[in-house]
Amino acid sequence: MESRTADEASYYKERRLMAIRKMAPKSLLVLYAPAPVERNHDTTYPYRTSSDLLYLTGIAEDNFGIILASDGELHVFCQSRDPERERWQGPVLGPEKIAEHLGLDREFVHDFREFRQELTKKLQSCDTLYYPFGQDKNFDSWILGEIHKLRLQARKKISFPEQIIHSGKILHELRLIKDDLDLTYLRKAVAISSRAHNLLMAYTRRFPQGISEAEMKAFLEREFRRQGAEALAYPSIVAAGQNATILHYEKMSGFAQSHDLVLVDAGAEYRGYASDITRTFPAGGKFSPLQKEIYSLVLEAQKAAISAVKPGISLEDIHQIAVHVLCEGLWKFGLLRKIPQFGKNTIIWHFPTSLDEVKEKEFYKLFYMHRTSHFLGLDVHDVGRYYQDEKPRPLEKGMVFTIEPGLYFPIEYDFIPEEFRGIGIRIEDDILVTEDGCEILTKDCRKEWQDIENLK
Ligand code: GLY
Ligand code: MN
Ligand code: MN
Repeated sequence: MESRTADEASYYKERRLMAIRKMAPKSLLVLYAPAPVERNHDTTYPYRTSSDLLYLTGIAEDNFGIILASDGELHVFCQSRDPERERWQGPVLGPEKIAEHLGLDREFVHDFREFRQELTKKLQSCDTLYYPFGQDKNFDSWILGEIHKLRLQARKKISFPEQIIHSGKILHELRLIKDDLDLTYLRKAVAISSRAHNLLMAYTRRFPQGISEAEMKAFLEREFRRQGAEALAYPSIVAAGQNATILHYEKMSGFAQSHDLVLVDAGAEYRGYASDITRTFPAGGKFSPLQKEIYSLVLEAQKAAISAVKPGISLEDIHQIAVHVLCEGLWKFGLLRKIPQFGKNTIIWHFPTSLDEVKEKEFYKLFYMHRTSHFLGLDVHDVGRYYQDEKPRPLEKGMVFTIEPGLYFPIEYDFIPEEFRGIGIRIEDDILVTEDGCEILTKDCRKEWQDIENLK
């Protein structure tokens, strides 16, 4: 963790206060950092802590946990300083610094090895427990066992939680509305990514003989790091030519010829905050006429969706706007007149007679098979409920999400004209809902075809 300023510490404190205000009387909120995950013998995956813990404390270490009580008392559990261990694994913050950062008396900061024992004690005077069950089966079973043991002692003067509520019910709703500290870090993450995408778009055209996906990925990620990103927000997708029609393509073994489009979906993580940008551009710097037409259609759908954003509208409305524009364009291209429906050993052909039918029967999903938006924050697919009372929830000021329409024409679609096959295009920006509209956080990342072609 980098050093935190006093001003930053006050945000974490305010977030904890907001959580406390939502907690039931006599309740505890319990969070702990996940254990590092073994990759293979003696090595682990790069460590990333729990986003909820980051949100409430700003502390990113493993072997770290908190017990926050509804009366405001906070107990923290962390790694103690140990010169011998730190020689191998690097320095940890230690209890003194953590107490200082959280504004706690030292007596409330304990060694992480005491976490479970302390929790068992505190459960005895607690009616409601908030914690993120379902994530760690061992902990779930341990804590249910502890609560069961307490129940069996019901004749003694001890209490025990009779309800367990997912901590997300409180924390994820708070995380959905970004405060100024969230926005400071998010803006930094998107600025890093926007610049890196622009540089990559200019870089590939230096190679008239083409460039490998692996090199493009390395260039982009080097640029993220150079600008201060601490990690990737998610595994980068760098897909040349027909690989762009594979939605979660991560193989990175392909090669872009200068006439190919390259789809790059990649974002830096900064202080735990994700950015999420997709750009699709010609490796050689010039779109072909058909590439330009399809690109312009996706961009038109994206812009129509963005211009509708304001408080009160839902992500479902935004999706439908993008779908409508894409369908109109696909219809004009003549690609929606003959639609196959693939069964196990059968193909049924449909011949829609109107755009309404295409939308109603969702035939467009052949070419646009994903949703348009997801929330963005500490997690790339951020937390928060998308539906309330079974209806799409209205957007509110301070929410951040993506708008990312695309069109994909897989190479094996032999029922569409050959020139479309193998083209995949997605354009993705990160959007902040404002008082009366929105701000495109990723506006510095080029996306007009003229601006891409003119990059130097
Ligand atoms: N990069 C993941 C997504 O766009 O949803
Ligand atoms: Mn996305
Ligand atoms: Mn993305």
